[in-house]
Amino acid sequence: MESSAPQPPLAAAAIQIDSHLDGAEARSLAEDVLDGLTRPFKELPPKHFYDARGAQLFDQICELPEYYPTRCERAILSERADELAALTGAVELVELGSGTASKTRVLLDALSAAGTLERYVPVDVTESMVRECAETLTAEYPGLQVHGVIGDFERHLDHVPPAIGPRIVAFLGGTIGNFTPGSRRRFLREISRLLGPEDFLLMGTDLVKDPRVLEAAYDDSQGVTAEFNRNVLRVLNRELQADFDPEDFDHVALFNEQHEWIEMRLRAKRELIATVRGLDLCVHFRAGEELRTEISAKFTPERVDGDLSAAGLELVHWLTDPDGLFALTLSRRTSR
Ligand SMILES: C[S@@+](CC[C@H](N)C(=O)[O-])C[C@H]1O[C@@H](n2cnc3c(N)ncnc32)[C@H](O)[C@@H]1O
Repeated sequence: MESSAPQPPLAAAAIQIDSHLDGAEARSLAEDVLDGLTRPFKELPPKHFYDARGAQLFDQICELPEYYPTRCERAILSERADELAALTGAVELVELGSGTASKTRVLLDALSAAGTLERYVPVDVTESMVRECAETLTAEYPGLQVHGVIGDFERHLDHVPPAIGPRIVAFLGGTIGNFTPGSRRRFLREISRLLGPEDFLLMGTDLVKDPRVLEAAYDDSQGVTAEFNRNVLRVLNRELQADFDPEDFDHVALFNEQHEWIEMRLRAKRELIATVRGLDLCVHFRAGEELRTEISAKFTPERVDGDLSAAGLELVHWLTDPDGLFALTLSRRTSR
């Protein structure tokens, strides 16, 4: 007998979204600004780039000729996704910093072709991206459940829903490089706690190479990365009633040879004082003074292996592109 009870629309039934960014998120921006803009060497964490506009700009960066990481990572995934699907038998994909999930589709295709795919769990700080990708992916993959988590992966990993079977936790795009070495290992340890005995971490890392190639990837000829960098000031203007003129700052990208990481900075073109009304704060910049907005660490195989081991993870597969520009690693919890 057919039920006459009203049914939810198909897509809505397949989607669950949890948001953990309430007032606490606003406080995190405020705390980061208070902490980071009152230091002798000014600094902000990169997560604040990503409002809806920042997320769009990042997507444009991924299409730029100079920005090889996305192309390389996609090429590795395309080449090896079937193998990864077979090896892991994953029924779900959890993705940290999922963005628009454009490369993720390669993995979803492989898991779907293997007949195991049931659920996708995108975790991202940008609400619009999580919602949009839940809508599009449930339409593209009939039967797929999407449980989106809008949150900060540094604070909300415990809100990732319990596994429904073997899973891959993906951390793509080289985002792990945004952590300093100590916090990187701590964060990997947090991720390892998400992994059961049948689960795998799939992580993308950009590799050490010619500094000219690296610097060009973060300072493109069309100025998209510069706009992305300055976007953090627009976020401060909107969220904390600040009065930065983004055009007062030059975009700077340089390879720090000692640490083997790229630094993005904003350099004041002139002496200025910005007011952050929401925090009752005045911030003074000398002419030429810099605000560091991102580090992006570059890796060697030894560095990746050392980080994974320190976090209680063991390398299962090291996958790279033919030119050795980027690597994907599959790892799992060290067996005891
Ligand atoms: C470099 S992009 C990578 C996007 C995508 N994974 C890719 O490979 O193209 C970083 C992504 O992580 C998200 N993100 C950055 N910091 C975050 C944080 N602390 N918590 C949650 N998401 C974060 C950003 O919103 C953005 O979508």
